[in-house]
Amino acid sequence: TAQRLTRLAELVRDVPDFPEPGVLFRDITPVLADAEALTVVATELAALVGDADLVAGVEARGFLIGSAAAVVAGVGVVPVRKAGKLPRVAASRSYALEYGEATLELPDGVVAPGTRVFVVDDVLATGGTAAATCALLADVGATVTGFGTLVELAALGGRAALADTEVHALLTY
Ligand code: PRP
Ligand code: HPA
Repeated sequence: TAQRLTRLAELVRDVPDFPEPGVLFRDITPVLADAEALTVVATELAALVGDADLVAGVEARGFLIGSAAAVVAGVGVVPVRKAGKLPRVAASRSYALEYGEATLELPDGVVAPGTRVFVVDDVLATGGTAAATCALLADVGATVTGFGTLVELAALGGRAALADTEVHALLTY
């Protein structure tokens, strides 16, 4: 496993000053484009899904790895979307980003109360996105079984923002 994770780390590309000066952006697109690496990501995250009923994938890159993990785990996936994209909304939460602010929404009629949901995203930075996602799931009466990410930017403190949720990262910077 350590060797497989090293391969993932080699594929993450560092882009200085994106999307604004002073931010070092960890670009995961080369990981997704590599067949073996994508399989490693899907398999490692699927193992963390455990006995959850459903994966929640966060727009936009969380859709990609969340659905890959869900297929391997044999469960479905629900998209957590940026505001204004869903025709019927069950819950809505605003949150602060590392850069800027945003609102996330959960579709109506898809996550029943009591559903056990594992949340997947590509990057955990400040944790605002992940915390808003967990709050949305709580709003509809679901139980969050954990949060899995490809990359954790530890210096930004995301784990603290997710104090009540078990956090798993394949790569930590
Ligand atoms: C990025 C990333 C996470 C989030 C992490 O998404 O994909 O969802 O930021 O940051 P946080 O922990 O500080 O909240 P972004 O909002 O840039 O959207 P995108 O995936 O649609 O590009
Ligand atoms: N990379 C990708 N997504 C992100 C980052 C990053 O460094 N920071 C916040 N979202």
